[in-house]
Amino acid sequence: QAIHIINGPNLNLLGSREPEIYGSQTLADIETICRDAAGDIDIVFKQSNIEGELVDFIQMAGRDAQAIVLNPAAYTHTSIALYDAIKAVGIPTIEIHLSQPAARESFRRRSFVSEAATGTISGFGADSYLLGLQAAIKLVKASP
Ligand code: DQA
Repeated sequence: QAIHIINGPNLNLLGSREPEIYGSQTLADIETICRDAAGDIDIVFKQSNIEGELVDFIQMAGRDAQAIVLNPAAYTHTSIALYDAIKAVGIPTIEIHLSQPAARESFRRRSFVSEAATGTISGFGADSYLLGLQAAIKLVKASP
């Protein structure tokens, strides 16, 4: 069984990017935390700054994984292509955010991804990844 954890634009800069909002852990730190928590489930962990590449990653997960944990970053608020990709693959997709977008600028209030995702976890810093992964693992283990 496999879960793909997919990360959108600027998340490669975690650690140095606005640490007061996103924390001091790097994406590599978060990857390690997720791998340690995954037990016997295979984790594929990816990041891209390019919207179409994220669409490709979601399609790949649709072929190779039983669930997706997705931090779409800024594409959350703009991308119908990601919405369509999640709908197209049809596997459980947990949307996650380090910060709480609803408590920030008004342009972050809309999430196209939420309209396709199974559920959303936001506002817990790096723990959002862990909580999202736990939700995904539960869904994967529950399905035959
Ligand atoms: C983010 C929130 C988004 O609004 C923002 O564009 C990001 C990161 C988060 O993890 O808090 O890049 O997805």
